[in-house]
Amino acid sequence: MKRETVIVLDFGGQYNQLVARRVRECNVYCEIYSYKTDIEKIKAMNPKGIILTGGPNSCYEADSPTYSKELFELGIPVLGLCYGAQLMQHVLGGKVERASVREYGKTEVMVNTDSVLFQEVAPTTICWMSHFDYISQIAPGFEIVAHTADCPVAAAENADQKLYAIQFHPEVLHTKEGTKMLSNFVYGVCGCAGDWKMDSFVESSIKAIREKVGDGKVLCALSGGVDSSVAAVMLSKAIGKQLTCVFVDHGLLRKNEGDEVEAVFGPEGPYDLNFIRVNAQQRYYDKLKGVEEPEQKRKIIGEEFIRVFEEEAKKIGAVDFLVQGTIYPDVVESGLGGESAVIKSHHNVGGLPDYVDFKEIIEPLRDLFKDEVRKAGLEMGLPEYLVFRQPFPGPGLGIRIIGEVTEEKVRIVQDADAIYREEIANAGLDKSIGQYFAGLTNMRSVGVMGDERTYDYAVALRAVNTVDFMTAEAAEIPYEVLNKVMNRIINEVRGVNRVMYDLTSKPPGTIEFE
Ligand code: XMP
Repeated sequence: MKRETVIVLDFGGQYNQLVARRVRECNVYCEIYSYKTDIEKIKAMNPKGIILTGGPNSCYEADSPTYSKELFELGIPVLGLCYGAQLMQHVLGGKVERASVREYGKTEVMVNTDSVLFQEVAPTTICWMSHFDYISQIAPGFEIVAHTADCPVAAAENADQKLYAIQFHPEVLHTKEGTKMLSNFVYGVCGCAGDWKMDSFVESSIKAIREKVGDGKVLCALSGGVDSSVAAVMLSKAIGKQLTCVFVDHGLLRKNEGDEVEAVFGPEGPYDLNFIRVNAQQRYYDKLKGVEEPEQKRKIIGEEFIRVFEEEAKKIGAVDFLVQGTIYPDVVESGLGGESAVIKSHHNVGGLPDYVDFKEIIEPLRDLFKDEVRKAGLEMGLPEYLVFRQPFPGPGLGIRIIGEVTEEKVRIVQDADAIYREEIANAGLDKSIGQYFAGLTNMRSVGVMGDERTYDYAVALRAVNTVDFMTAEAAEIPYEVLNKVMNRIINEVRGVNRVMYDLTSKPPGTIEFE
């Protein structure tokens, strides 16, 4: 491996990506591999350190994920976390048993600060525990370096062999000094230099793209979302006008979004590239006429995107490369990297167009986590409003308008949503809420405005906090803010006479309305 790397061996724990992210936050590059990865492959990667994740199994059971003893004899430092810690002890001759009570939640841990792992950590520190099994006897050569009231071995080490076992989860933020412990491992034990920095990543990626593309032509579908925007900027910095970006305005974008994307990437913007904006709004409205069923709407929007993109690609002719905005969690979740269950159902619109004539795919963000993509974007001078853009679904407002989509309904949602976003920002809540937007219920009801009876639409406001988008809680927005948003929407958006706030969590609701 060219870069200094720590690898995470995934035993099916729910925090595998978090471990890798925390290590990268320490400026050390980290990749996730399945526990089934062959030892020869690991040796060939020559990692600076290996971290074994948690997992749902009991290591003493016959079919549980395991690794051969050889892993601990490579001379490469190993840190086992939770299941990984138990497995290390089990494989090396210690004993793991089922405890009578599960230790779960924030727990006071007493650590030995002489251990490299706990340098500069408070002697009593709060850590996140989640285990049924416990290490009842440590393996020969190890010594206990942390314990809790219920758990005799909260951490053990064999400093000579550079083997460390931690029962709790340093990667979880509830472990107050967890990042410090991981940093102690990668610097104090593995001797990393800390060369994973966004500026040098951007620089080396640009160089690598330039070498790979040569004088070839590159095509990129630009959605205006964070990933495709960052990818496009990186490509444009590398190869300038050899890059053509096609931006399809499907008429289901947020208010002014099409113009905002054009302002950044178009001819007036700061970047050197060929930018094609396709105003396909009417095409989409025509296709969506009379269609109410959510999945059918998604399908139409996705397919239409492919058709429009293909038409543009045909005009451009053969290209050498097609850009994909794949990021590292996509790689891990599609099962290539880790071992955790494939949890994310792939919502993404489209897939690869059939008729685009290209030779190879180029994925400049394949190694990056989302927060790193954002850092790379800022590094290359993308405006903050683009870099910190909220997740926006491919089918856009099409799935925020319940039932049939019409141009009139799109206008209502765009205007209501713009007001909502503006007021959330005015209240200083824009960085703290996970995802928020206005949607249009398909409901009309009677109201009164001035002296007149109205029969208008109800707008629904949604705001959720979520870690992984698989579950979510409705955000608690101060009443005054909601009230102000309601007043402004009623007064400023024609066609609306009621505003509702959706309190539903996910499950049973979803984040979007369809
Ligand atoms: P749900 O509504 O499934 O949303 O709770 C979870 C996350 O996924 C986004 N989402 C989509 N993204 N195409 C996308 O690209 C889709 O069809 C789609 N549906 C939902 C949603 O915005 C949220 O962030």
